[in-house]
Amino acid sequence: MIVSWLHKYLFALYPLLILKKMEVLKTVKEVQDKFISLRSQGKTIGFVPTMGALHEGHLSLVKQCIADNDICIVSIFVNPTQFNNKEDLVKYPRDLEKDSQYLAEAGVNFIFAPSEKEIYPEPDTRQFDFGQIDKVMEGVHRPGHFNGVAQVVSRLFDIVKPDKAYFGEKDFQQLAIIREMVKQLNLSVQIVAMPIVREASGLALSSRNERLTSKQKEVAVNISKTLFESKKWMDNLSVKQVIDKVTDTLNSFDELNVEYYEIADGYTLQSVKDWKGANYIVGCIAVFCGDVRLIDNIIYKA
Ligand code: PAF
Repeated sequence: MIVSWLHKYLFALYPLLILKKMEVLKTVKEVQDKFISLRSQGKTIGFVPTMGALHEGHLSLVKQCIADNDICIVSIFVNPTQFNNKEDLVKYPRDLEKDSQYLAEAGVNFIFAPSEKEIYPEPDTRQFDFGQIDKVMEGVHRPGHFNGVAQVVSRLFDIVKPDKAYFGEKDFQQLAIIREMVKQLNLSVQIVAMPIVREASGLALSSRNERLTSKQKEVAVNISKTLFESKKWMDNLSVKQVIDKVTDTLNSFDELNVEYYEIADGYTLQSVKDWKGANYIVGCIAVFCGDVRLIDNIIYKA
């Protein structure tokens, strides 16, 4: 009887106990005060920047961050400057309570959930120059997007001053941009890239998947399926033929509409003409499934 009462009591308290271990910081000053003290104790700081709507993909970054560092901090901030489509910004899913619960259970030490005013007390007018890296793919179809990403990530790095920061390879071009930004700004943070996390069906996890109907989700599986299949075509088809075949296959499905499919050098992101054109080759795709824009990629050569 006592054991069962104790069990019930502890079970009810469990969320409070784990949540108590994690702190939600809202202001830049709170982060700076906490982290100056942690750094002076010699603690290493790992950082996972996010826009919330967390899923298993984010969890893989968080797990690695916790494994590698003394302290893990996750930011949740839907950054307006990286949305070239205002409707997308409005529709972006937001649920801080659910995300906090998820991160507390994962064992995160701090969440940084600032307001827009904290991040941008003044409008950020900085213009980054990433050379050719942002003149292709997402850079063409989402003008200004990577400038906004660089603005927010550099600002967050400046506030948190992490030793390591974690990003997913699903946003392959974003990763290249962030590496270039770190180089240009001469920052000491180490960028850690984590592999794409997929559903059992192969569909790459994305916060946008929440907006797919169950029928659209079934169709969207063909994106990864076709990319995986296309690796087998390399022996017999040219780069151009593979691009065309991937595009035509996907466009043949109702609801799917390929915005671009490019096969590029994995470092420079410039298109390759043949399979011998680079040592590291990636295929990057953006596809509309209904009105939901999905991205994915595949490594052909590493
Ligand atoms: O990948 C994302 O979720 C965002 O682009 C990032 C890096 C958190 C910047 O807002």
